[in-house]
Amino acid sequence: MSQATPAKALALGTALVTGASSGIGAVYAERLAKRGHDLILVARDEARLNAAAGKLRADHGISVLVLPADLSTEAGISAVERRLESDPSITLLVNNAGIGVAATLAETSTANVTGLVQLNVLAAARLATTAARAFTPRGHGTIVNIASVLGLVAELFNPVYNATKAFVLSLSQNMHRELSPSGIRVQAVLPGITRTEIFERAGGNIAAYPPEMIMEVHEMVDAALSGLDQGEIVTIPSLPDAGDFETFTQARLALGPNLSRNHAAPRYRVSVPA
Ligand SMILES: NC(=O)c1ccc[n+]([C@@H]2O[C@H](COP(=O)([O-])OP(=O)(O)OC[C@H]3O[C@@H](n4cnc5c(N)ncnc54)[C@H](OP(=O)(O)O)[C@@H]3O)[C@@H](O)[C@H]2O)c1
Repeated sequence: MSQATPAKALALGTALVTGASSGIGAVYAERLAKRGHDLILVARDEARLNAAAGKLRADHGISVLVLPADLSTEAGISAVERRLESDPSITLLVNNAGIGVAATLAETSTANVTGLVQLNVLAAARLATTAARAFTPRGHGTIVNIASVLGLVAELFNPVYNATKAFVLSLSQNMHRELSPSGIRVQAVLPGITRTEIFERAGGNIAAYPPEMIMEVHEMVDAALSGLDQGEIVTIPSLPDAGDFETFTQARLALGPNLSRNHAAPRYRVSVPA
């Protein structure tokens, strides 16, 4: 930390934001700085992180630490885990770093599949778990996991990407169940198409989507933070009626009593010849 910490930042604590060098993570960093959080910024591009950190310190008078890490590697994940474990000032993890893919499953290379799972699933799960372990004895702390609306969609886009985001949604909802009694907050954010670099980085083009489906990144992050302030567990910034997600959840929960029984359903019962 490079500057004296104002009293407000001490009260709010430090937010560790992964994928803070661009897009959604960079806007989270800026919005959280504005709220008075000190920051730890994680991504691979150190020069970009340093530039952002300098501006955030100058504009908001907070402390900003840059922690360069490649979260698709064991060394990168471990470095961030060590920070989460050893820095009691951290009160908020924004688990955001992620990559996309602009290809059908048949076109997706083995390296792409590995990269998607390492970053979007393995790193996300390891960091969320480590943060939960660090926060639990303190009885407070917040974990924001950036999923995607594609985690709810099996009819469009890339099966592996969508599945990584379904993983993050399930992880978050189940973490909420386990951790809320200990005072830990968990929020899953499900952005729709948001104007960032992710499309170009994945070899796609955001201009291919209808403009009425594309949200500007500041609006998306402000909505997600509003959802956090309102105590939501799942925030879908685009969804006009939150009741629609509640209806979906209730339909899923209604399956519960019948998902594990001691006999197969009648339609699967095989009649054994006498
Ligand atoms: N934009 C959308 O439409 C959209 C919709 C739904 C969900 N999301 C999710 O939102 C999250 C943020 O994406 P974005 O749209 O803001 O994309 P973005 O602008 O491409 O930002 C991705 C961030 O992740 C970092 N990152 C990528 N690979 C990394 C690695 N191996 N190790 C550490 N950091 C890495 C990048 O920084 P470096 O390159 O410096 O490492 C960058 O800071 C992702 O989880 C994405 O799946 C995005």
